[in-house]
Amino acid sequence: FSPDYSLRVTEQLFTQSCITKDEVILVNGTSPGPGLRLTEGNIYWIRVFNDIDDKNLTMALDSHWHGLSMAASPFSDGTPGASQWPIPPNHYFDYELDIGSGTAGTYFYHSHVGFQAVTAAGPLIVEEAGKPPFEYDEDRIIALSDVFEKSNSEIEEGLIGNPFQWSGETANILVNGQGQLQGSTTSADCALATIRVDPDKTYRFRFIGGTALSFVSLAFEDHEMILIEADGNYVKPVNISYLQIGSGQRFSVLFKTKRRSDLSKSQFFLQMETRDRPSLTRSYAVLEYQFANLKRAPRPKPSPLTLPTGAPPLTLPANTFGWLDYKLLSLTPNPDFPKTSEVTRRITIRTHQIIGNGSIMWAQDDSPWIESFPHEPYLVSLYKNNSMEFPSLDRATAHQGIDPITRVFPAAIGEVIEIIIQNTGSDVGSVDVHPFHAHGAHYYDLGSGNGTYDPVANEELIRGLSLAQRDTTMLYKYAEKTTPGIDMGWRAWRLRVTEPGVWMIHCHILQHMVMGMQTVWVMGNETEVLNVPLEHIQGYLDYGGSVNGNDT
Ligand code: C2O
Ligand code: CU
Repeated sequence: FSPDYSLRVTEQLFTQSCITKDEVILVNGTSPGPGLRLTEGNIYWIRVFNDIDDKNLTMALDSHWHGLSMAASPFSDGTPGASQWPIPPNHYFDYELDIGSGTAGTYFYHSHVGFQAVTAAGPLIVEEAGKPPFEYDEDRIIALSDVFEKSNSEIEEGLIGNPFQWSGETANILVNGQGQLQGSTTSADCALATIRVDPDKTYRFRFIGGTALSFVSLAFEDHEMILIEADGNYVKPVNISYLQIGSGQRFSVLFKTKRRSDLSKSQFFLQMETRDRPSLTRSYAVLEYQFANLKRAPRPKPSPLTLPTGAPPLTLPANTFGWLDYKLLSLTPNPDFPKTSEVTRRITIRTHQIIGNGSIMWAQDDSPWIESFPHEPYLVSLYKNNSMEFPSLDRATAHQGIDPITRVFPAAIGEVIEIIIQNTGSDVGSVDVHPFHAHGAHYYDLGSGNGTYDPVANEELIRGLSLAQRDTTMLYKYAEKTTPGIDMGWRAWRLRVTEPGVWMIHCHILQHMVMGMQTVWVMGNETEVLNVPLEHIQGYLDYGGSVNGNDT
């Protein structure tokens, strides 16, 4: 057996965007890790080695294939706590990726343990077996990430500790792992990223929201974009002058470069700014025309890449809410879009931040998520049939969708559910923005609004629209401050439940995940969910079991 790709995860001293830290988690020695390009209609095996040299053997990790439905291989979803054990140090795990047809698009992979995904992540592109529905000459990956001064362990301990300690804000927004801090001297690991293009071509820019925390607003100087893909789904083209991207989201745009004769310079800034944080972080990358295809004309010398001095070249909109809501329509109408009359249940996740006694945690109503989160992966427990009972749909239905005994959200195959995420801010009235992400399936995004979700009023807004399917959408921040306890905006999804399995729905901000902002969903009944014969899964049932090969 030889895997199609091997990823080796290490922990080492590393400099990123002028910040040198110990214990940075890297994939094949880099961050982001290598880009994987897969073609739809194939099955791939990816071997992930945990090469972290950890004396206590606690530095487990895993790899989650963000945006891909893992329904065909539930033990490969890479979610400790939900689907499988993490990979212990000096072990590897072979992930099975069944790339169905119709999944072509932009994804990424990342560890799902603690704060590791801040660096342990990489692009994953699924190409069409045939031709893409849009024409472009080439594509470019623009993967965004954050960088913090503190180490992962310091951040994790602070977030769950008492007294609570915030991670700090991002020091910079990086493009493909690169960035420069104001005032630092340029070197290989302290330089602006460049996106190289030729004149007079059409590119597909694939933006990947690999940030830990940052909700980014961005635009290119002097260039427009046409949005064509959101979270692995093609959409009807939308002209945009700026893009907003939160953690976990992906967008593709068509990007037309200027003709040589229209160029008065060869470099243009990509300006990126954080939104909805107490302080604004502004970062840059450079779009550089390289004129490689022009033989006769002398190639203009690019000026050295430096951060802009003085006022920022662009002014990006301050407000974030409602961006492209009700405007992202599926490129080819989806006949499967469930009608309102088919909706069987509406389940509201009310996110709330409890601030008390030195610690801060996220809760649904008043029960903190962090306490309910299982330690043995839920799917494993169900197979072992030991401590965990199968969730009861009846109990859940009588309790706003969550089964109070198992603390998971059950759903039946064939149901059409609406999941409403309702922002209620914190005990002291502060409000945060949350990019909510679903594993296992793509849902139809029904939009967002201020206040409380009103299905009747929203019906008017979605009537006749062929809404796009998404896997990560924003629960916006509609105001800076609010009265504690009142509804401060919602996001609504509609989903026809088709894939049995144990799936997570969580906020994709790593800090919030560490603070417990994650829910576990069990879709399907016992026979549907536990459908792999026991003898095939022995190796998955114990931490460090036989399926995770040894590599010492
Ligand atoms: Cu990219 Cu569960 O996340
Ligand atoms: Cu959040």
